[in-house]
Amino acid sequence: VITAAAILGDSSYLLLKQAILEHTGLAYYSGKDDDLASRLARRMIARGARTCGSYLKMLDDPPEMDLLVAELTIGETYFFRHAEQFEALRQAVIPDLLTRNRARRRLRIWSAGCATGAEPYSLALLLWQDFGPALAGWDVRIVGTDINQAFLERAREARFNEWAFREAPPGFTDQYFVRAGKEWVLRREFTSWVSFRHHNLVQDEPPFGGHAEPADLILCRNVLIYFGPRIFARTAARLWDALAEGGWLVVGHSEPNQQVFSEFRTVQISGQTAYQKLAGGVANPGRGPAISRPKAAESGFATANAVTVAATAPAPAIAPPTSRTVRRPAPVSALHPALKTPQPAADATVAGARRLADGGKWQEAARRCRVLLGASTLDAAAHFTYALILEHSGRAGEVQPALERAIYLDREFALAHFYMGLCLYRRRSFRKARRCFQNVLDLLRSRRDDEPVPHGDGITNAELAELARMHLALLEQP
Ligand SMILES: C[S@@+](CC[C@H](N)C(=O)[O-])C[C@H]1O[C@@H](n2cnc3c(N)ncnc32)[C@H](O)[C@@H]1O
Repeated sequence: VITAAAILGDSSYLLLKQAILEHTGLAYYSGKDDDLASRLARRMIARGARTCGSYLKMLDDPPEMDLLVAELTIGETYFFRHAEQFEALRQAVIPDLLTRNRARRRLRIWSAGCATGAEPYSLALLLWQDFGPALAGWDVRIVGTDINQAFLERAREARFNEWAFREAPPGFTDQYFVRAGKEWVLRREFTSWVSFRHHNLVQDEPPFGGHAEPADLILCRNVLIYFGPRIFARTAARLWDALAEGGWLVVGHSEPNQQVFSEFRTVQISGQTAYQKLAGGVANPGRGPAISRPKAAESGFATANAVTVAATAPAPAIAPPTSRTVRRPAPVSALHPALKTPQPAADATVAGARRLADGGKWQEAARRCRVLLGASTLDAAAHFTYALILEHSGRAGEVQPALERAIYLDREFALAHFYMGLCLYRRRSFRKARRCFQNVLDLLRSRRDDEPVPHGDGITNAELAELARMHLALLEQP
C-alpha cells in the first residue's frame, strides 16, 4: 500500500503536484507537501495506483479529478459567516442594487466557491426577510458554484447540521428549517431563488458576464485565500468581467487587496470592505489622481460621501474594522453597528450589557438590561440596547415596544428612529417606516455631517442620513 512518504519520494511527485495546483489553483498546498501527500495517498490507495505517474494519468478521467478535488478542498462554511458583511449588504449594497435595478426588476447574485451552500442560502434568507416586500414580482436568481461536486450535491439538498448554525441567532432554525433527525432542512419556499452549478474558478467560463447576463453581486469569500498571487489576480479580473456596471463584489475578511482590486471602487461600509464596478474605473494610486467621491450619476449612493470612499491608499475606513469585528461567536455588535463600541464610563452599565451581548451571552445581556431598566426606566440608551438584544435573540415581537420607549424618552435619538424604520419595514408597515426614515433625515439636518451619531459606533451623521435615504428610495418603489 502506497504511503505519504513513498509519494514524497516518487520522482514524478512534483509533476503530479504541479498538475493538481494548476487545475485547482490551490497554491495553499505548495508548502504543505506532507498534507498533500497524505490526501493523495487516500485516492491512490482507492484506485490502486502505485506511482505518481500512473495516478497522474488517471486524473485525465474527470470523475477521478472530482474525487481528488473532494479530498483537497476545504469547505468550512456556516450561516451568516462574518455577520458584519451581511449587515453591510443589508444596509447598503442590496438597497443600492434594488434602486439601480428597479426598472428591470431583476437581481443576479453569484456565490463563487459556495461549498455546501450556507452562503447563498444566507443571502436568500436575508433578501426574503429584509427586502421581501421590495422584491415582490422581481426575478431573483442566486447561483452557488464550486469546484467540489460533493459539496454541491449536499448544497442542493439544503440540509445542514448544528455546526452550520453556530453563529445564527436563537430560533433561526425553527423559523426557516424543518428537522430531519440530527439535521435541519431549509424549507422549500426559501430555496426557490437558489441554484447550484459546478464551476472551477481557475479555468471555467464564469456563469455570469460575457455571453451570459452579468451579475449584480458576487460573493467570493474565503476562496481566493487558497490561491497563489497569479491566479488570485486572474480570478479578480474574471470577477470584474462577470459583473454588471455598478455591480458589487464582496471577498472574505482577509482577502481585500488594494492592488489586485484596483479597477474597482473600494467602499467601506461600517468597517467592511466592498468593491464596486464603475464604468471608466476609478483612479487609484499609481493610476492617476484619486477620485474621492463618485459622481451622483455613477452610483446609487448619489450624494454619499459617507458610506462610500473611493480607493485611496490606504483605504480610509469610516468605521475601521477592529478585532471585535472578527471575534466569534458573532457579536451582536456585528449585526448592529450601534452596539459595536462600549459607551464611555457614564454609560457603564449599558456598556456592560453590550459586552455580554458581544460575548454571545444573550440571556445575561437581556437580564442586565432589565435590571438597568428596573432601576431607571428613563434611560433611552438602555431601552435601545435592549431592543437590539431582543432582536438578535429572536424575540422580534418585543423589539418595537422597546424602541418606542427609547424614542419616547429621547425624541432626538436618530439611530432608534432608524431601527424603528427597519423594524416597521419588515412588518410591512410601509407608511410608518417611511415616517421613521424621514424623522432620521429631519433630525440629522441640523447636525454636522462628519460628527458621529450617538451610540452609533463611529457611524457619522452623513452615513446614517445616506442609509435613511436609501431605505426611503426603496419605499418609493412601486
Ligand atoms: C472555505 S470554503 C468557503 C465557503 C464560503 N464561500 C464561505 O465563505 O463560507 C472554500 C470553497 O472554495 C472552493 N474552491 C476551491 N478552489 C476552487 C476553485 N478553483 N474553483 C471554485 N471553487 C473552489 C472549495 O471547494 C470550497 O468549497
